[in-house]
Amino acid sequence: MIQITIDGQPILAPQGRTVLEVCREHDIYVPTLCYHPALEPWGGCRLCMVEVAVGTRPPRLAAACTQPAEDGLLVRTNSEAVRRSRRVTAELLLAGAYDVPEIIALAESLGVSQLRYQLPEADACVLCGLCVRACQEIVGVSAISMINRGINKQVSPPLARASASCIGCGTCVLICPTGKIKLDDITSDHSKHRFKGTPQPFYCQLCADEYQIRANGAGG
Ligand code: SF4
Ligand code: FES
Repeated sequence: MIQITIDGQPILAPQGRTVLEVCREHDIYVPTLCYHPALEPWGGCRLCMVEVAVGTRPPRLAAACTQPAEDGLLVRTNSEAVRRSRRVTAELLLAGAYDVPEIIALAESLGVSQLRYQLPEADACVLCGLCVRACQEIVGVSAISMINRGINKQVSPPLARASASCIGCGTCVLICPTGKIKLDDITSDHSKHRFKGTPQPFYCQLCADEYQIRANGAGG
């Protein structure tokens, strides 16, 4: 076990946890967007910033979802620096997704209710990467990925064409926090995203495990 202090409260935690996991286990609120407990932490959205310090070293901002909970770590989840960092991140998210109810609600919960900047065209994709990582880590097919850089970055199947490896499982639809990917995108051959190609005989990793268990008579 290790001991860390979160907002002045000493907490014992098992080795190998992240700060976010310890916070969640103790009902300490830290906002997240790109984190999902079924996926490897990515640290992309920067919404979960907290202040961390060890010993006499000055505090620094760190993403709670990727910051290991080390023995002696001092964590502040609601300092002025933390709140300011989250507000700036929320404003930037809102600048592109200003018509997405989930992002509007998230921004408001962090104290952002007015748009200071706005992209010419709203886009519900906040580039959280959940769909891409779920497709890779849970389903195991990598039918979609992030392409381009900067303002041109987007989620796409290879060469922006229907992906032959998409099995139409809908995991990307379910995990997307903004509703950007619609079921029609992966089930209709005529959808504008054309995520779906020729159906392949393939089980996602979770289904395949379940299938093996049932086939071997070990499951229900
Ligand atoms: S499509 Fe949805 S899940 Fe995928 S990166 Fe964009 S917002 Fe995230
Ligand atoms: S939730 Fe930690 S960086 Fe996105």
